[in-house]
Amino acid sequence: MPIEVIILAAGKGTRMQSRQPKVLHCIGGRPMLLHGLKAVAALHPARVHVVVGDGAEQVMGIDLAALPPELPLNWVRQDAQLGTAHAALQALPMIDPTATVLVINGDTPLLTPTTLRQVCHVHTDADVHVNTPALTLATARLDEPHGLGRVVRDGDGAVGAIVEEADATSAQRAIREVNTNCLSARAEDLAQWLAGLATDNAPGEYYLTDVIRAAVADGRCVHTIAVDATEALGVNTKRELAVVERAYQRRATEQLLEQGVTLLDPTRVEVRGDCRFGRDCVVDINVILSGQVRVGDNVFIGAHTMLRDSVIADNCQIEAYSVIEQATIGARCRIGPFARIRPQCELHADARIGNFVELKQSTVGAGSKVNHLSYVGDSRLGARVNVGAGVITCNYDGAHKHPTTIGDDVFIGSNSALVAPLTVAAGATIGAGSTISKSVAPNALAVARTRQQTIPHWRRPKK
Ligand code: UD1
Ligand code: CA
Repeated sequence: MPIEVIILAAGKGTRMQSRQPKVLHCIGGRPMLLHGLKAVAALHPARVHVVVGDGAEQVMGIDLAALPPELPLNWVRQDAQLGTAHAALQALPMIDPTATVLVINGDTPLLTPTTLRQVCHVHTDADVHVNTPALTLATARLDEPHGLGRVVRDGDGAVGAIVEEADATSAQRAIREVNTNCLSARAEDLAQWLAGLATDNAPGEYYLTDVIRAAVADGRCVHTIAVDATEALGVNTKRELAVVERAYQRRATEQLLEQGVTLLDPTRVEVRGDCRFGRDCVVDINVILSGQVRVGDNVFIGAHTMLRDSVIADNCQIEAYSVIEQATIGARCRIGPFARIRPQCELHADARIGNFVELKQSTVGAGSKVNHLSYVGDSRLGARVNVGAGVITCNYDGAHKHPTTIGDDVFIGSNSALVAPLTVAAGATIGAGSTISKSVAPNALAVARTRQQTIPHWRRPKK
């Protein structure tokens, strides 16, 4: 049986106190909605219908690059937010009546593919038998169920209804088992139950959760799947966003530990994307890993370092307080402390970038060193180049950026300014303190500074 998914993402998210649509707030550096989409993608659904309303244009503009390109997405409008049942109803007419429908909230980003599969399982199983439940629902037991729909069972433990907090009696409020709004049923059954719903509840909304009562009234049984409390966490407020972020981080760092990464303190590493490490890597405290990060074997990442969308080869040492974005770092490089490597830089093997060095759109050849207090932009450095302290590539003339090319084995004396466009050919030497604006031939020495004058027995002026 094909699965079609409905993700409810049209709500106003008023309690977030934000202009941004709720499902675009990030968990682990990615919009909440993307987490839901990634989880459902693992089920290879026939279609995914995302119901949008509040901030629809913004929500539909979400970056889908992290998803499998073949995921068949269908945006569905819910122009007035009349409740979760009304939202699901907007998508149902587009769904094959014989399909299994899986519904999830756009604001419960920690649901796992395993749970989603379990919730769909009985409905997608080929040999459907008489006792097949009409509806499957993921529920969790929480110590603090406040604000969530409670699962009401009869004396035999059969599910009878879900009661929202606002409509619950105090006895019902004491129930710890809550609804996650992750449920599955056949499309035609769901359509029939939804069609009969009313708005006779505290906020006057169409509740998706009332389909449980409708199914039971229909004489059908409701099956529940117990999930851990983390998966049930939803985001309605900034406080809950922070709680879900911590839970997500715990999960992400556990995955790194499973990969064999040594985290000097797992509670002080932030994963905001998709990271893969080789063997014997060590990550010090307060490291932030964003986007796609690929790290080889035996790499050390120093404290307070930020890595974003970068590839780091084996045996590199990244010292504390370094920022590396969209860069490719070759084997055995040493970087930092306090280095900044901006997008589109490439370091070949054994390069060394030291403290207070900024690299921008530059290539650094094998074994080359830029050790102290330099700016290198739009440059190509060959192999074994030594760039002295305080060297600046003057790549910008106020209107345009210009390139600098430095050949193999070049030595650039400290405090030199290299005025681009410029080529310093292989083996050349630049005297310290030079301002070089004309290209330098291979193996030449270029010095461009005023000569030193020395006046003997100089008398300082007196007061
Ligand atoms: C809902 C459930 C509650 C459950 C909880 C789990 C209902 C009535 N209640 O409550 O039982 O415990 O989720 O997190 O369903 N949405 C729309 N259109 C609307 C209203 C909401 O698309 O008209 C979307 C929201 O964007 C959100 C989701 O539906 O992603 C849930 O809505 P929300 O208002 O957050 O419901 P809860 O009060 O959390
Ligand atoms: Ca919610």
